[in-house]
Amino acid sequence: MKKAYLVANWKMNTTPSTAAKITKQFLSCSHQSARVTTILCPSYTGISAVREALHSHSRKDVVVGAQNCFWEEHGAYTGEESLSSLYVSGCRAVIVGHSERRQHMGEIDVMVGKKIKAILDYKKTIIPILCIGESLQEKKNNSTVLVLRKQLVSALTAIHALSRELIIAYEPIWAIGTGIPIQSSDCAKASQTIRSILMNRLDPESEKYIRVLYGGSVTIQNTSDIMQNGAVDGLLVGSASLEPKNISTIQEIMSHLV
Ligand code: PGA
Repeated sequence: MKKAYLVANWKMNTTPSTAAKITKQFLSCSHQSARVTTILCPSYTGISAVREALHSHSRKDVVVGAQNCFWEEHGAYTGEESLSSLYVSGCRAVIVGHSERRQHMGEIDVMVGKKIKAILDYKKTIIPILCIGESLQEKKNNSTVLVLRKQLVSALTAIHALSRELIIAYEPIWAIGTGIPIQSSDCAKASQTIRSILMNRLDPESEKYIRVLYGGSVTIQNTSDIMQNGAVDGLLVGSASLEPKNISTIQEIMSHLV
């Protein structure tokens, strides 16, 4: 059985104590799921606090993730964080190439590609969550497929086969934080496009390691439509995930649909 993923991206909206509080409240209002793995992604300083909050509950279906990483293991990289450092802090997944990092931090495809390669080569298991998606202008120009192909090809230049999971989060930029989610039929098209671009490049055995998620204005209200008709293996949730009850409700809806 393929498991689904629910990724909560808290962006720069929590402190260590609010991240721990959301985690504890989510744990107390949700049930362990055999079908959905929930990945809670606070900012760097909240990672240990979330890990500690998880520790006392021993829930195997909930893990902590980071919102970024660096591709080198150590060195003169002021302000960056290595995979080893994230791993020992408890991280088991990392979001890479979020559009906000591309837009505000100048993160370009080649950097995203180095991060994905570093995570897939890392000796312990950290799941990469690669974010891709077109802008409103690109959508209007009908260049969604071109944009997705370019982002995927650059991020996976050095990858020819997968031997562990790779999550692709399809996040159209025009849907992020706007309250305008994608139509589930368009989501299904994009998801199929992503899978076929990947399978044209990767060894056939890799298919079983690919997971495609959707992100952008996901709420309790649109979860079941996107999960049922969007051809995705899960959801990446931003603003709605700051409310613990929303995470537990979305997790529960997803558990019934996978
Ligand atoms: P949103 O954010 O759910 O608030 O639209 C999604 C994301 O950017 O990760």
